[in-house]
Amino acid sequence: MTTSSAPGKVYLFGEHAVVYGEPAVPCAIERRARVTVEARADDRLQVQANDLTLDGFTVTWGGDADDRPDVDVPAPLVEAAMGYIDGAVEQAREAADAPEAGFDVTIESEIPLGAGLGSSAAVVVACIDAATRELGVELDAATIADRAFQVEYEVQDGEASRADTFCSAMGGAVHVQGDDCRRLTDVPNLPFVVGYDGGTGDTGELVAGVRALREEYGFAADTVAAIGDIVRRGKGALDEDDVEEVGRLMDFNHGLLSALGVSSRSLDAMVWAAREADALGAKLTGAGGGGCVVALDRTEQTLTALEYTPGCEEAFRAELDTDGVRAER
Ligand code: MEV
Repeated sequence: MTTSSAPGKVYLFGEHAVVYGEPAVPCAIERRARVTVEARADDRLQVQANDLTLDGFTVTWGGDADDRPDVDVPAPLVEAAMGYIDGAVEQAREAADAPEAGFDVTIESEIPLGAGLGSSAAVVVACIDAATRELGVELDAATIADRAFQVEYEVQDGEASRADTFCSAMGGAVHVQGDDCRRLTDVPNLPFVVGYDGGTGDTGELVAGVRALREEYGFAADTVAAIGDIVRRGKGALDEDDVEEVGRLMDFNHGLLSALGVSSRSLDAMVWAAREADALGAKLTGAGGGGCVVALDRTEQTLTALEYTPGCEEAFRAELDTDGVRAER
């Protein structure tokens, strides 16, 4: 039996625009997905998910392509979860040259599914690491990031950047632009506060919506390019330890994401609650549509304001996690 974990993330800047080759800066946070894998005697997969939105579900599949679990959770969530885990296991089989390997997989996650905190990337990264190690092969974090990206790319029909998977595999704050992925060093202390509305967004649909706008309106394409400009300025602000400027740029980034139609009433309400509580900056994080906002605040004011904001189900402080994927006992 082998266990690995990988962190979730928040986007300081650049989600959506990163899909079109603009830069982005996601940051790993100390909320992890843990995946335990045990080799089976046959070539099937059994998956048990405990703390995800797929609370307490168990499915077994393999062999017959029509094999689908009969469980009481929305079909798209099951399909997506199966796709990610199937893809991760396939990557591990390939890396270990063990095409017939079957596994019992148990997922325990502190990251809500589909809420903008990179749950699928964390599960895929941790699953590839645990399954390859269970088969006696050690991959480095960059190789795991690359294999996890292939999984996201396939499950999301080619509409995925390397940002989520690279950040989860490497940990810390990272800068991603196309295939150029690096860890940022000497990042100032970023006092993250996260607000969660209890909802989810459909990443595929939201990315497709931005693509359609971008193709229809030149000014939507300019908006995507302007997000890239914000990220470049933001990277400069990080280099100069100017956290106040980082916050102002996050506010701007949220406005542009909102213009691209990926915010929601509850995300806007949480962003405004943070602004009125004098946060340094606040924005939605991830694909949007519902889920989480991230704010910067050195005081307790934003956390308190979010706790009293109608529509905010949970608010918490998040620390930057400098550890990426790691073996667990
Ligand atoms: C989703 O977490 C982030 C997006 O930019 C999509 C991606 O980068 O793959 C919306």
